[in-house]
Amino acid sequence: MTSFEEFAELARHRRTSLVMDPERPVPTELIDQLCELATWAPNHKRTWPWRFAVATGAGRARLGEAFVADLVAAGIGDEGKRTKTRTKYLRAPAVVVVATRPHDHPSFHEENRDAVAAGIQNLLLGATAAGLASFWSTPPVADGAAARELCGFDPGDRIVGVVYLGWPTGQVERPARPAPAIRHLTA
Ligand SMILES: Cc1cc2nc3c(=O)[nH]c(=O)nc-3n(C[C@H](O)[C@H](O)[C@H](O)COP(=O)(O)O)c2cc1C
Repeated sequence: MTSFEEFAELARHRRTSLVMDPERPVPTELIDQLCELATWAPNHKRTWPWRFAVATGAGRARLGEAFVADLVAAGIGDEGKRTKTRTKYLRAPAVVVVATRPHDHPSFHEENRDAVAAGIQNLLLGATAAGLASFWSTPPVADGAAARELCGFDPGDRIVGVVYLGWPTGQVERPARPAPAIRHLTA
């Protein structure tokens, strides 16, 4: 079992970083282990809401093209944004698309997404422990048909994060962290 200090150091050490080698592959087994780690996040009613797709090699460009198709279908962004979206996933050797399943109950629907976000943090911390750089990015479109079909997700699934993974080639600055506001209610 890890000590609190070791875990705290890991959590503080994790950075959002794209300073990575886009050519050096990340082993598929390691990526699969990180996805498995995500599934240890708490999830209300044990809905196991996470879904994963991993893009490597030419799959990264296909992912970009699918998101461009979804941008066009949704009427979002100009030509500059679409051009960037086509190639942005080539900046990392591996890109993990993480989605959440829908739920009929509005609260559980929201909580499914909360659980997936918790799972992504597990994935990021695992990646950090494995020596990988990682970057949680917002999907260009969360519920577009093209990316959803490419990733093997179902209608109603929403993409929560697009996570870049790769071996670091440098470091990024640690952003200042405002202290948390904590009210202690003791009586
Ligand atoms: C839900 C979510 C979406 C994010 N999307 C983006 C993004 O699209 N682009 C980006 O530069 N950073 C994105 N980030 C990363 C934040 O910018 C980053 O966490 C923040 O700058 C703090 O840096 P740190 O993670 O290194 O502590 C996202 C983070 C979260 C939690």
